[in-house]
Amino acid sequence: MNISNLLANGSKILKSNSIKTHVLDSELILSDILKSQREKLIINSNQSVSEKVINNFNKLILRRTKKEPIAYILKKREFWSKDFFVNQNTLIPRPETELLCEQLIKIFKGKSINFLDIGTGTGCILLTILSEISEAKGIGLDISKKAIDVAKRNSKNLNLTSRAKFFTRSLEEIYGYKFDLVVSNPPYIKSIDLKNLQEDVRKFEPKIALDGGKEGLDVIKKVIYKSKTILKKLGLLALEIGHGQHYKVSQILKKQGFKEELLIRDYRNNVRCIVARLKIN
Ligand SMILES: C[S@@+](CC[C@H](N)C(=O)[O-])C[C@H]1O[C@@H](n2cnc3c(N)ncnc32)[C@H](O)[C@@H]1O
Repeated sequence: MNISNLLANGSKILKSNSIKTHVLDSELILSDILKSQREKLIINSNQSVSEKVINNFNKLILRRTKKEPIAYILKKREFWSKDFFVNQNTLIPRPETELLCEQLIKIFKGKSINFLDIGTGTGCILLTILSEISEAKGIGLDISKKAIDVAKRNSKNLNLTSRAKFFTRSLEEIYGYKFDLVVSNPPYIKSIDLKNLQEDVRKFEPKIALDGGKEGLDVIKKVIYKSKTILKKLGLLALEIGHGQHYKVSQILKKQGFKEELLIRDYRNNVRCIVARLKIN
């Protein structure tokens, strides 16, 4: 069997299991197994493949037919043009979160800030900011120890351990620090809506990373209340929120003494991130 036949088989199996990205996923899986770029697979499509490669490929294709996200199968996701290690203990980093990082990097470029990332998951936000702002130092915390293990692994991979510290802790347990910036992409999906999520998200991504309680605002509220006590005067809070949550979050921020400075919209023009300044503390 050659590369071309194997790719076609994989793609066909995925297609018959209603995987829309069947061609791409088949190519991604094979290029990962062969440690080769996708483009090279096409160029070398007549090259034959070993039994071992075929077996491995079929195993991973089978996992994908069960709707397991490609990022968990390959144990990586590109974020800010870097490969982040991911597994089922962490949310898979999303493109909206890159938009938040982009704005924070613009705001703080060249400044020696101390910042906190609440619910750090893979560490993608914290490590991206550190990779772009060499003067910055950051602490990432997450209630999940297994997520913190992943964030530490990424910190090592990206050579950022000297400026990134990670702790397994719930956000309620932060005392005695003051930060220039608190950033968070907290769980914000309404509990009742979890069952309507796409199968790959619902079945495979950690519930603790998704479930925001009755209105989806439980953790967002806690982050806002906590930030009031741990931000320096005029410090910034940067929050990723869910579609349709802007109005309610805005009201809470105002009540707690924050002034919205920047709204970041996603590719569909929905407000998905808010950067707000603490006016009172
Ligand atoms: C939506 S995920 C975000 C992960 C990562 N920051 C990202 O943007 O890809 C939310 C994270 O918050 C963590 N989390 C949930 N409740 C928490 C709490 N009370 N304190 C700290 N972390 C919490 C979850 O374990 C999860 O890793």
